[in-house]
Amino acid sequence: MSRPLLQLALDHTELNAALLSVEALKESVDIIEAGTILCISEGLNAVRTLRKVCPNHTLVADLKVADAGETLAEQAFGAGANWMTVICAAPIATVAKAHSVAQKYQGEVQIELFGRWTLEDARAWRDIGVKQAIYHRGRDAQASGQSWSKEDLNNMAALAELGIALSVTGGITPADLHLFKDIPVHAFIAGRALSDAAEPARIAEAFHQQISAIWGNK
Ligand code: 5RP
Repeated sequence: MSRPLLQLALDHTELNAALLSVEALKESVDIIEAGTILCISEGLNAVRTLRKVCPNHTLVADLKVADAGETLAEQAFGAGANWMTVICAAPIATVAKAHSVAQKYQGEVQIELFGRWTLEDARAWRDIGVKQAIYHRGRDAQASGQSWSKEDLNNMAALAELGIALSVTGGITPADLHLFKDIPVHAFIAGRALSDAAEPARIAEAFHQQISAIWGNK
């Protein structure tokens, strides 16, 4: 299994606050995400600004698109995103339109897995060319006490078996990473654990140490 990457999710309501996190963490993370909260609060200007500030990072527009796949993908990739999220409940036509625009920009669509979806859906996404998905424990679900279950781990393994590169997110901390030790995770996405930390770079280092201890350095 190759070494999972570390993705910083920026879920600030103000771009200036997000940029402070970026300044503190950009050297410590592999991927930067304009989170849904940031995109809704500040619009695609957040993606455009992050592209300028981090010209060499992989940049994600976490729009969780449900419809108008072509138009929204044009907006996201045109603003400088490399990857854009589409919600798993979106019609396959929306996924296909977004994927086709992503290809035009040499980008990728990531399917955001919340709530209800099936492995049959996952095969349909894969069959139209989608390569990535995000396994997500929602922030509200976490707050209501939902933890990572055996069923989650089985679902992750089944998705990886289909050849889908899987990112994992939802209140993840360095202490949680061992739970996923048997899963070929592509990236761990962390928001609050990094941005809300008193010493963000130290927490990023703790993520990397745990990743190296579990998955090695390659
Ligand atoms: C919320 C998101 C978040 O960006 C993602 O869950 C990471 O944030 P946190 O680590 O704070 O849960 O997509 O919908």
